[in-house]
Amino acid sequence: RERPIIAIDGPAGAGKSTLAAHLARRFGFLNLETGAMYRALALKAIENDLAFDEEEPLLELAAYTRVRLEPQSEGNRVFLDEIDVSRRIRDTDVTAAASRISVHPRLRAWMVEQQRALGAQGGVVMEGRDIGTAVFPDAEVKIFLDASPEVRGDRRYRQVIVPRRAGEESSPQNIPAESTPEQTWAQQKILREMNDRDERDRNRAESPLRPAPDAVILDSTSLTLDQVLAQAEDIVRSHL
Ligand code: C5P
Repeated sequence: RERPIIAIDGPAGAGKSTLAAHLARRFGFLNLETGAMYRALALKAIENDLAFDEEEPLLELAAYTRVRLEPQSEGNRVFLDEIDVSRRIRDTDVTAAASRISVHPRLRAWMVEQQRALGAQGGVVMEGRDIGTAVFPDAEVKIFLDASPEVRGDRRYRQVIVPRRAGEESSPQNIPAESTPEQTWAQQKILREMNDRDERDRNRAESPLRPAPDAVILDSTSLTLDQVLAQAEDIVRSHL
């Protein structure tokens, strides 16, 4: 390939999407969110009333499904059979379904094949769970972005629940200092569901979530966003 590949992996809520979008802008690369592909197929499985734990029907469904990512300056627009599902795939039912269908080995092979085709030319930041280990084991730069479960749960809560209630885009500074019992409950629910998805990713037989041996591990637990972005930029520069 002519240009490098930057692989970003890690658990949910670590900040992979933000980091990937930033690096893509900084280095003039395309940003590709592989999780969106699993989400889009999961949405189609929901629409077709398929069981998430049976691989064969899911594979048959995949065979006549087209998932297309359109990289934007912030994240990807996602098309399922040419319908824009960018918003819908972020709903909790799709999030849970994506986690469950992504355990199937042949379904993963179908995804990986497409992801390799998307990144083949290089000049991409590809973000997911298995990019550095399975999709592009030869990626020039591999970052495994991690954070403690508490911090990831808290970030996800601020990102998902609070802005939605306020009817705005992401604006974490708007979170009230004092949480109501209802908010505490919602927060714990998010943390629990996130942990379930991480466990499934880490324990599946096919390309489980783990850092590639040559990945740089970036733990953002006690870093600010700016610090994470700066350290990641340094990592990229030192590898290119
Ligand atoms: O990253 P995101 O949360 O959008 O991914 C949705 C789900 O897809 C994850 O919970 C994970 O189980 C699965 N996934 C995966 N491999 C990837 C990307 C996502 O298994 N490369």
